[in-house]
Amino acid sequence: MEFLKNAWYCAGWDYQISQGKESIVARKIAGKRVVLYRKRNGEVVAMEDQCPHRQAAMSMGRKEGDALRCMYHGLKFEADGRCSEIPGAKDVPDSLCIRVYPAVEKDNWIWVWMGDPAKADPALISAGVGPGDPDYITKPSYVRVNASYLLENANLADLSHLSFTHEGTIGMGRATAQIVPTHRVLPRGIKTDYWTRNVPPPKFVRHLFEPEFRCDANFDITQTYPCTWVMHFRVFTAGTATEGESDGQLVMDSWTSQAVTPRDDRSVDYYYSWGVSRETDFPGMADMLKEGIDAAFLEDKRVLEGQQIRIDENPNFRQMGIGIADAGPARMLRVIDQLIRAERESEQPVARIA
Ligand code: FES
Ligand SMILES: [Fe+2]
Repeated sequence: MEFLKNAWYCAGWDYQISQGKESIVARKIAGKRVVLYRKRNGEVVAMEDQCPHRQAAMSMGRKEGDALRCMYHGLKFEADGRCSEIPGAKDVPDSLCIRVYPAVEKDNWIWVWMGDPAKADPALISAGVGPGDPDYITKPSYVRVNASYLLENANLADLSHLSFTHEGTIGMGRATAQIVPTHRVLPRGIKTDYWTRNVPPPKFVRHLFEPEFRCDANFDITQTYPCTWVMHFRVFTAGTATEGESDGQLVMDSWTSQAVTPRDDRSVDYYYSWGVSRETDFPGMADMLKEGIDAAFLEDKRVLEGQQIRIDENPNFRQMGIGIADAGPARMLRVIDQLIRAERESEQPVARIA
C-alpha cells in the first residue's frame, strides 16, 4: 500500500513520551518503523527504528543524554543521527548515520514528517483541541484498529453509521442516518457542518435527562489527510428553528480531536480525545465523555476489523453503493488518492529529450 510521504503523521500523545530513562517509544508509521524519545531539553527525537549496523531495533536501545545507543553492539547515535561511537573502533566514518525524521509537538500531539525533511512545513499540521487547551476539559485516549486506514477514513467521513453502529452509545436515534450532509472539499480533506433537530440524547448520557427530553445538535467537522478528524460538537435543548443556529439553550459545548495514523496496510493507531467547555462542564462530565467515546470506538473497531477480514477474503467482491452513506467516504478517498498521485508524479524523473 502506498502512503503519502510528505506529510505529518501523528505519533501519539505528548504524555506517552516521558523524560523517563525507559521512555523509548516504538511506532510504525506509514509502513516505517520509528523510535521516539525526548532530549534533556524536552524536544522529541524521531529516528528510524533500525540500527544501520545489523538492523537491531533502536527502540531496544539505551538513552544516554540526548543520544541513543544500540544495545546489540553498542553503536551510539546522536539526536541528529550522527554516529558518535563504535565501541572498539578508533574512527567513525561520516557515512555511518541513522535517519532522523522532523518531529513537532502541537495540540498535545506529536507529529512526525515521513518525507523529504526540506519540505517539512509545520503549517501543514492539522489543528486540534488538545488536553492542554485551557477552555476545555479534555481526556485523551487511544485504540489500535486492525484494518486499513482507508476503511477508518471512510468510517469517519460518514456519520450515518452513528445511528446503528453506535445505537447503544453515542448514536442519537435514526435522525443522523437520514441527514444528507454537504461536504466542502479542502486541499487536504473535507469539511462537513450539519444539524440534527429534535432528537433524543445519546444513550450513554440519557440517564441525565427526563425521558421526553429532546435536543438539537450541531456537528462541525474538519477531516484532513493524513488524518485528523476534528469536530466542534454542540448540543442545545430542542428549539423551534428549522434551519441555521438552534434557538434552544446550550447544554454542551465540546471538541473531539482524533488522529488516525496508518501503521501499515492493515492497522492504524488512533489517538483521540473529547473535551467539554468549562462553561458547560459539571463534575465527572469529561470522564463520562471519555467512557462514551471509548465504548463507541470499540464498536467501530469491531465493524472495521470484520469488514477488513471479508475484503481480504473476497478481493473481487463488488460492493453495492447506496448513496447516502457513501458520499462522504467517496470524497475523502478521492482527496487521499489525488494527494498520493500528485506526490508520485512529482517524484517521476523528468524525461530527457536527446
Ligand atoms: S546492530 Fe546495532 S550495533 Fe550492531
Ligand atoms: Fe463510529
